[in-house]
Amino acid sequence: MEKQDTLIYKKLIDKLCANNYLLRDEYLFLIKNRDNCSNYLFKNASKVREKIYGKEIYIRGLIEFTNYCKNDCFYCGIRRSNKKIERYRLSKEEILKCAHEGYLLGFRTFVLQGGEDIYYTDEVLIDIISTIKSKYPDCAITISLGERSFDSYKNLREAGADRYLLRHETSNKLHYQKLHPREMSFENRIACLQNLKQLGYQVGCGFMVGSPFQIDEMLADELIFLKKVKPHMVGIGPFISHKDTPFCNKTSGTTELTLFMLGLIRLTLPNVLLPATTALATIDSNGREKAIIAGANVIMPNLSPINVRKNYMLYDNKLYLREESAQYINDLKSKMKAIDCTISTTRGDYKGDV
Ligand code: 5AD
Repeated sequence: MEKQDTLIYKKLIDKLCANNYLLRDEYLFLIKNRDNCSNYLFKNASKVREKIYGKEIYIRGLIEFTNYCKNDCFYCGIRRSNKKIERYRLSKEEILKCAHEGYLLGFRTFVLQGGEDIYYTDEVLIDIISTIKSKYPDCAITISLGERSFDSYKNLREAGADRYLLRHETSNKLHYQKLHPREMSFENRIACLQNLKQLGYQVGCGFMVGSPFQIDEMLADELIFLKKVKPHMVGIGPFISHKDTPFCNKTSGTTELTLFMLGLIRLTLPNVLLPATTALATIDSNGREKAIIAGANVIMPNLSPINVRKNYMLYDNKLYLREESAQYINDLKSKMKAIDCTISTTRGDYKGDV
């Protein structure tokens, strides 16, 4: 490669570091030429992560408490049309048991995640959230249960929920329609994110990398979108095909592109909470470590009862044992040590203006 070219990439990344912003075409240029500048990007992204969060990696205990879902997203293994999976719901007692185990292991954030399951009315959830909150007042509660009404989000917030994760999946409306059935609306998804922000949640959005029909231009647009929405968290992972979905034959996303997007996100939103996702660890055995080196600072091990984990298969071969398992926290600690990081047992709140 010509020295001149290297200089252009470096200059753009330096500009991104200085301004936390690039023009769409500049992002696009970097994405298209990522082979030539990923190391420089990661070096800068790591530096920014360290400046803001130090060497600490935050952990969240993930409780996947229902795999019932009323939606039928074309990519997702727990879509309602998938008749091949065994459905489960955890009772309040079972959820509390997960939280108790997590607390003893050092977790101070619990993520209650599930499909859009109408069984969990506001009343049921308020009871669960307020009980966890009263037993563990030093813990943060994150909810991730898809689209609900403003009033419902308000009720859960008042019951003690601190954060909400709702991936927007793509910021391109036409693309959104290619990933979802007709009855799902892009506008409603974005409205949900706005409502959550208005209610004072720490909000996480996110998208899949390499989802069917996605092109590089859309990834550049994702960065512009994130800059506008200013989420506190951004969850991204590679799309991975699931055998019992309409996208069973679609090509999966790659580690390399996911890492590059993580680096760009860290430099665009320096304070953001950025998880190294299970999807990335699923396609790459060193995915977690690579994500951190690219700018990520959060890991979300699984606290669900072992016997239900295999039923929460969003995509083929989703990991749920070893380091994905909360019980393996010590192995995770040594893995982090190997990349000069430590596991933090604090709530791990967003560091930045709220
Ligand atoms: N591959 C990767 N990620 C997926 N998700 C759902 N299905 C898949 C898949 N096949 C992600 C979506 C969703 C989150 C819970 O999991 O982004 O928001």
